[in-house]
Amino acid sequence: MNLDQASRLRAMARQQVPETALFRSRVLAITSGKGGVGKTNVVAGLALTLAKLGQRVAVLDADFGLANLDILLGLSPTHTLEHVLRGEKVLEEIVLEGPMGIRVIPASSGIQELTRLDTASELRLIQGLQRISETIDWLLIDTAAGIHDSVVKLLLAAQEVLLVTTPEPTSLVDAYAMVKVVHLRDSEKTLWVLVNNAHSEAEAEETLEQLQAASQRFLGREVKALGMIPSDSSLLQSVREQRSVVEQFPRSPSALAFRQIADQLMKKVPLQKDGFASFWKQLSLEES
Ligand SMILES: Nc1ncnc2c1ncn2[C@@H]1O[C@H](COP(=O)(O)OP(=O)(O)OP(=O)(O)O)[C@@H](O)[C@H]1O
Ligand SMILES: [Mg+2]
Repeated sequence: MNLDQASRLRAMARQQVPETALFRSRVLAITSGKGGVGKTNVVAGLALTLAKLGQRVAVLDADFGLANLDILLGLSPTHTLEHVLRGEKVLEEIVLEGPMGIRVIPASSGIQELTRLDTASELRLIQGLQRISETIDWLLIDTAAGIHDSVVKLLLAAQEVLLVTTPEPTSLVDAYAMVKVVHLRDSEKTLWVLVNNAHSEAEAEETLEQLQAASQRFLGREVKALGMIPSDSSLLQSVREQRSVVEQFPRSPSALAFRQIADQLMKKVPLQKDGFASFWKQLSLEES
């Protein structure tokens, strides 16, 4: 296939998603500069809390880390996005049903291919997502940590970005590096910051203030404070038991904090027309 044909086919694939679609959703990518700061737990906690609030939630597991979302929720995927991209499965066949009806799309190793799809795979993916998007209010994307290009592409394609940091100086420095990378690529992208594993409100506030100050001083841009999740032994116990703290200990400090964060997100992240599919369109546009 020559380049001309390829780009015509790409354009056709994109047109499969009608611009006038009425479905409205929100697409949020959850990331961090440093690994191990609690992204996957934040994704699981928010997904289940939003589901409790009556929202229909899908989660894309785009993290290569060892502590994957499926493990955290006690799910065992047999197929991943890779099978969809190869045309062996349709998207609906790989989606897992998690607790409280949340849907989990296991991407795992398939995710690297997402940013360089051939036209046939792109078409399959966009059509599948289009079908799923009709029944979804939120798509949460659990990304790997760090400023790798494939992660940054996911962030840029998402509607808004939620950056998780802990109060540790190393995590904070890496969080700032992430703010900078995103800012240089898209200065308009909304960046929320959530302080996880904080030992007090004061510690979380100080962390937020430091990140805010650095972003303003060196980049002239704001990050938006979303709040904090306290360090919580109930969360640790839930991780060990492969259940979400929100389900298992709904009155625990972290579960209550997830509720506050979910309320904020519901109020402050605008609904996007056909947000789910436009995420994928954006991802493929980034590439071309
Ligand atoms: N609020 C918290 N309270 C207590 N422990 C926590 C909290 N958040 C996270 N942890 C601990 O940190 C560990 C790592 O969390 P998680 O796997 O969610 O991080 P991650 O950022 O997704 O890591 P990776 O970068 O490897 O994907 C958890 O298994 C848990 O032990
Ligand atoms: Mg993780």
